[in-house]
Amino acid sequence: MNRHLIAAADLSRDDALLILDTAEELARMSDRPIKKLPTLRGRTVVNLFFEDSTRTRISFEAAAKRLSADVINFSAKGSSVAKGESLKDTALTLEAMGADAVVIRHDASGAPHRLAGWIRGHVINAGDGMHEHPTQALLDAFTIRRRLGGGRSGAGGLDGVRVTIVGDVLHSRVARSNIALLNILGAGVTLVAPPTLLPIAVDGWSCEVSYDLDAVLPKSDVIMMLRVQRERMTAAYFPSVREYSRRYGLDAGRMAMLPEHAIVMHPGPMNRGVEIAAEVADSPRSTIVEQVANGVSVRMAVLYLLLGGAELTGEPR
Ligand code: NCD
Repeated sequence: MNRHLIAAADLSRDDALLILDTAEELARMSDRPIKKLPTLRGRTVVNLFFEDSTRTRISFEAAAKRLSADVINFSAKGSSVAKGESLKDTALTLEAMGADAVVIRHDASGAPHRLAGWIRGHVINAGDGMHEHPTQALLDAFTIRRRLGGGRSGAGGLDGVRVTIVGDVLHSRVARSNIALLNILGAGVTLVAPPTLLPIAVDGWSCEVSYDLDAVLPKSDVIMMLRVQRERMTAAYFPSVREYSRRYGLDAGRMAMLPEHAIVMHPGPMNRGVEIAAEVADSPRSTIVEQVANGVSVRMAVLYLLLGGAELTGEPR
């Protein structure tokens, strides 16, 4: 494993499988009545959030606390960042306070990479601009593996699993991380989006592209819906929300076109009625709530592996 987790694309297949297998072990422990493990006692994890977040921040906090680490939550709003303090000075302040790991979310792509050059602690990217969100891809892979039982090779990866990612790919770090990790794990990826919401460089990505959702649905084991990220849109990317939903939204009629075993995913937060109908989001095929629960196990695994805590039994390593 690298010292930091900046991008899913940096992971080897063995690293990714180690994280997923460790998360599996930790998830089993989380089913016990007492969820807390002493593994990271005395370590400090800082959550450094420059962008809004509900599930990712809380998930990292829950993960660190279940491993008995001390957690400091920092959000840019209400801090000296509002007075113009730079990322570097903020980072050095955290370092001086003894952070062993810094979980960072930032609107600038590359911020976690810069941070890793300034501090001694481990850096975990919790989403940087339109670049990457590696723990989301890991929890998505974990969820797919749990629901569909792994890929055809049976070697713990996702070999041969067909994943369709639909919607605002252009602004999505979730899509970028997922494409990278799904490729590493052997799954096949198809993107479906309006041409205006695909990056120009998409031709060089290792995935297929389609503009016809209905044609792709029957060939998908997993359908991953992306949020339309209006806060990142600088122009009009589609004629109207209604038009977008009609062509690219997942409603009950479309869900019926999926194979029987297929699952529906969404990283959240959802725009119900835009990219996903409420009845689809709340259906038994949807893994949206499971993804949140799995996120805690996966983030525990990442913290555990990077910080090299005591053995899972509680004995020091
Ligand atoms: C995503 C993010 O922030 O990149 N959400 C998340 O972490 N669960 C996706 C999004 O905001 O649409």
